[in-house]
Amino acid sequence: MSPDSPPPGAPGAAPAGAPAAYFDAASAAPPHPVARQALLAALDDGWADPARLYARARRARQLLDAARAATAEVLRVRPDELSFTGSGTTAAHAAVLGGLAGRRRAGATLVHSAIEHSAVLHAARRHVDAGGAAVPVPVDRLGRLDLAAWSAAVAAPGVALAALISASHEVGTVQPVERAAAACAAHGVPLYVDAAQSVGRVPLPAGWSVLSASAHKWGGPPGVGVLVVRKGTRWESPYPADEREAGRTPGVPDLPAIVAAAAALRAVSAEAADQAARLAGLVERIRRVVPATVPDVEVVGDPDDRLPHLVTFSCLYVDGEALLHALDRRGFAVSSGSSCTSSTLRPSHVLEAMGVLSHGNVRISLHPGSTEAEVDRFLAVLPRVVADLRAEAGVTDL
Ligand SMILES: Cc1ncc(COP(=O)(O)O)c(C=O)c1O
Repeated sequence: MSPDSPPPGAPGAAPAGAPAAYFDAASAAPPHPVARQALLAALDDGWADPARLYARARRARQLLDAARAATAEVLRVRPDELSFTGSGTTAAHAAVLGGLAGRRRAGATLVHSAIEHSAVLHAARRHVDAGGAAVPVPVDRLGRLDLAAWSAAVAAPGVALAALISASHEVGTVQPVERAAAACAAHGVPLYVDAAQSVGRVPLPAGWSVLSASAHKWGGPPGVGVLVVRKGTRWESPYPADEREAGRTPGVPDLPAIVAAAAALRAVSAEAADQAARLAGLVERIRRVVPATVPDVEVVGDPDDRLPHLVTFSCLYVDGEALLHALDRRGFAVSSGSSCTSSTLRPSHVLEAMGVLSHGNVRISLHPGSTEAEVDRFLAVLPRVVADLRAEAGVTDL
């Protein structure tokens, strides 16, 4: 217990012996039990280099092929369209830079939503620094893409690639991917979709040419990403030549982690509809109870068209980092897109683009192990935690 944790039995204290409630699955979901089993088995059986020709290597190759086939089946793509990468971030970098490189004859403009993940925005920045152009498309207060602005942007001459996140990793708003894809198709522009928060949880939209995802968001191990490039899409590797992973990802693949990622994806996909219904109920409760019990709170994101497992709210007059630490001391692991997050020390570009409050921002993201009791305990603790932080900051008459 840390010095300022509430004493056992006090209001807001975790029940004696209760494990911390982990509410940050959008950063990294706890590994699915089958991922652990598959990882251990593949460490024994799949450590040889799958590119070699002896029996042990052929066995590793079989495991890699089976993992690719299983992942492709869940994503409803062909196995040869799918490459494994070292993370969702590297998959996003390769998607953007490879998509732009493959279409350099068409132009040098990247159109992207203003709420892309930083991996996409950093790749866009690299492209701009190298002399290309990037056009951000705004979202509304609920975090929904401005489709009229998007359609105009992709209709402009010289657009090589468009990038749209499937659903916001910060506020959960699901994006109108199929309508955005139709606008792209009308002008022959390929669409890249960062589906890191959707894969394994909700059905994927249609119409995209390039897609990326990340295994540790769906219950696989960290350090495995997925890059899908549909047949017929012009895509050119931004890396020095390497034959592995169809020339899309350089370096030896982490086979045990890939095998575990594929096993987890199969398992979570089979349970996804039931989990989505259950978690959406818990999220709905958080969306309803927090503004009713904590003054000056804004619940952000689309109330209807949203991911089932993720909810974000902001508390006026509260420092985001202080709130995270106070919740951590009471046994809740949450994340924040606040004005001062420990990972970026910058205001969240997503909340800024939406024009919503970013003070004291909390993102709760649930996973299959999340329970009603954990959510109830959080809802019971939160009003006191926020009130104490406001009192410390001298804000009392709310
Ligand atoms: C939407 C989105 N894209 C990409 C990433 C990066 O994935 P990884 O953590 O595997 O690098 C994340 C992770 O936060 C994400 O939420």
